[in-house]
Amino acid sequence: MTENFQFTLRRTDAGARLGEISMPRGTIRTPAFMPVGTVGTVKAMYLDQVRETGADIILGNTYHLMLRPTAERVARLGGLHSLIRWEHPILTDSGGFQVMSLSGLRKLDEQGVTFKSHVDGSLHHMSPERSIEIQGLLGSDIQMQLDECVALPAEPREIERAMELSLRWAERCKVAFGNQAGKAMFGIVQGGDIPALRIRSAEELKQLDLKGYAVGGLAVGEPQDVMLKMLEETLPVLPGEKPRYLMGVGTPDDILKSVARGIDMFDCVMPTRSGRHGLAFTRRGRVNIRNARHAEDLRPLDEQSNCPASRDYSRAYLHHLVRANEALGGMLLSWHNLSYYQELMQGIRTAIAEGRFADFMAETLEEWAKGDL
Ligand code: GUN
Repeated sequence: MTENFQFTLRRTDAGARLGEISMPRGTIRTPAFMPVGTVGTVKAMYLDQVRETGADIILGNTYHLMLRPTAERVARLGGLHSLIRWEHPILTDSGGFQVMSLSGLRKLDEQGVTFKSHVDGSLHHMSPERSIEIQGLLGSDIQMQLDECVALPAEPREIERAMELSLRWAERCKVAFGNQAGKAMFGIVQGGDIPALRIRSAEELKQLDLKGYAVGGLAVGEPQDVMLKMLEETLPVLPGEKPRYLMGVGTPDDILKSVARGIDMFDCVMPTRSGRHGLAFTRRGRVNIRNARHAEDLRPLDEQSNCPASRDYSRAYLHHLVRANEALGGMLLSWHNLSYYQELMQGIRTAIAEGRFADFMAETLEEWAKGDL
């Protein structure tokens, strides 16, 4: 274990990167998938189960936690790690994105964003400095700059304005964060679907010499080929020796193709949210367990998996639980999906280590295309 935040790139293969981030609370094997624990819980999962699926780090949300139970209360209770009983690294998103997607009435200016809580309608203000302060109170290991993400499609002038504002906020967050041994603050590249803006954003963030860089503002309404093109434009500009995190992405297919372009970290609600809605991700693509064809199918979702939810429970039982709206249905499918995602990430890492990432990707895509067993 190390006292510092340190990224080591072990190997590259067909565009994909194998590495690890070491920090005092643990080592994050990359490419990594970070389960989303928005309000201090990965929904419908025990955190020791989350750990057992292979997660090295989870994500928390500034926006939700500042409203309830509040950052100050979390700090008084000993910080997020001990409160939720997860002693491994936690990354927190800065709040800007969630303000835009969840809160009512908001006003954004140079100083920050004023918004109405989705919980009780109260008014709040968040500046770049306050976002970093909150993430510090929570005890977050990897903190994100406050940024503004615009939904696509959007006017180029609007995309440029938000990108420039995000750059100025990155500088302010860097100052507010200061120099904290063993922790990191990442910048976030914005610039919508305009390559020149993406490149400018990446170049300017690079000048700030941050410990890691995220690519934001993607998977916000644009087709996958646009997202991948933005990665191709952006990633070569970012320093190779720093981790790169693609925010809010994505499907297993998005993840494979983004790893092939040099992304090291991902987070997405998809495995847990889909699980709670009866959708399973498997080696053979998506399976909607609500479908009547599963009603008397005694086979498990995946007999080859190490996860009990995937291996030991019949599709018939899962179908029944989901149809009956039983909490256990969402719990088992979240567990299955998270373990599928982590098995995929382990498969990716092993393939890169063995210099066969391109074959692994082709085989995995081919298997998905065959459809359910
Ligand atoms: N999550 C998904 N996309 C984004 C983004 O662009 N910014 C932030 N802060 N979080 C995100």
